Amino acid sequence: MAQQIKAIRGMHDVLPEQAALWRFLEDSVRDVLDGYGYAEMRMPIVEMTELFKRSIGEVTDIVEKEMYSFEDRNGDSLTLRPEGTAGCVRACMENGLLHNQTQRIWYRGPMFRHERPQKGRYRQFHQIGVETFGFKGPDIDLETIFITRRIWQRLGLTGLELQINSLGDAAERTAYRELLVAYLDVHRDRLDADSLRRLDGNPLRILDSKNPEMRDVIEGAPSLFDHLGEESRRHFDELRAGLDAAGIPYVVNPCLVRGLDYYNRSVYEWVTTRLGAQGTVCAGGRYDGLVEQLGGKPTPAVGFALGVERLLALLEESGCKGADLAPHAYLVLMGTEAERQGVVIADRLRELAPRLRLQLHCGGGGIKNQFKKADKSGAPYALVLGDDELGRGLVTLKPLREAGEQREMTLAGAASFFNELIEKKG
Ligand code: HAM
Repeated sequence: MAQQIKAIRGMHDVLPEQAALWRFLEDSVRDVLDGYGYAEMRMPIVEMTELFKRSIGEVTDIVEKEMYSFEDRNGDSLTLRPEGTAGCVRACMENGLLHNQTQRIWYRGPMFRHERPQKGRYRQFHQIGVETFGFKGPDIDLETIFITRRIWQRLGLTGLELQINSLGDAAERTAYRELLVAYLDVHRDRLDADSLRRLDGNPLRILDSKNPEMRDVIEGAPSLFDHLGEESRRHFDELRAGLDAAGIPYVVNPCLVRGLDYYNRSVYEWVTTRLGAQGTVCAGGRYDGLVEQLGGKPTPAVGFALGVERLLALLEESGCKGADLAPHAYLVLMGTEAERQGVVIADRLRELAPRLRLQLHCGGGGIKNQFKKADKSGAPYALVLGDDELGRGLVTLKPLREAGEQREMTLAGAASFFNELIEKKG
């Protein structure tokens, strides 16, 4: 037998049994975003490699080690998107969406990072992202956080912690960087290999180290917080005041620096302790310099991205069943003529009851076997179509989950029965 080809490590199939939870998550998030007036956008999965280098930053884990980059047949260097912000900015600029206007946008889809796979960390994973353009004030930072809070409410997720920080503006960060490097240089002997490597290119990321042996050094480091300028401080204070007023608890984490270089001022993450090491389910912040960095006019911007797989893991853990996708009815066919006509009758029913989820029995077989399949489909009702019923223009409705008489109905009667049932369920 030929050897079977397996999926790529860290890339997973989403199986039919998982669809209910995906659908529930995606529909809930979409509804919330509709409620805040955000418009959906779809960008290509592949972009020029240069786009990610210039936006995420050359000296970041993502660009240095994790990108799926390749040369296409024209010799262009392309990359499977490791995140959505860069592509969204590129698309907005290219299509004139940032010219004299503001934007509130969302997108979803797969992202790709060649990380070491573990629970909650995959090489292909999904994000639902939000980006806003043209808003300077902290009200929009707040709005994006309100959106996330509303999403947790809709999903029934509790126990998530909001961590916030301010990274100041570019000049403040450059000044702080010098201070930090001077401090870390003195403590070189206490830095691990990873931090030594970052010392030159991206010293702020050292603050984010999870190595417990580095904790003391990091705690003793000068804080960017103490070096924020007046504007940045005011922005952050207003953000905090807004969160307080809205009753959203948060923790200021001065070590929250994010793994992508484009941020300034507010950054935030929602974290949980229930998922092991990969506890961040949502991350984002302000990135006022990115549009300009990519060749556009200076444009303030804020956004975040949800980690879909991590949220699904939380939903599963909390016992959430997800969307009800089971058919309302399973059409059982008895007799040669019924078997032949079944597919047509089923479609007529769907036409009369457009929201009806009806699964048609295909492939023949005895009545017992068909009812077994009806049961397995999860449908609360079977509709039985025999040659006899067919001749009289009727079907028999039979409850499968609760007691109740079976009864004969016309097709129109069955359709209104299901229309009412669906209407009642909402
Ligand atoms: P990020 O922190 O790189 O930010 O990713 C956002 C979220 O995606 C993470 O918090 C996590 O939930 C999920 N995630 C990241 N990597 C993986 C992985 N390998 N496996 C599973 N889930 C993962 C961004 O991507 C920014 N573009 C967010 C943003 C939008 N900032 C402003 N606008």
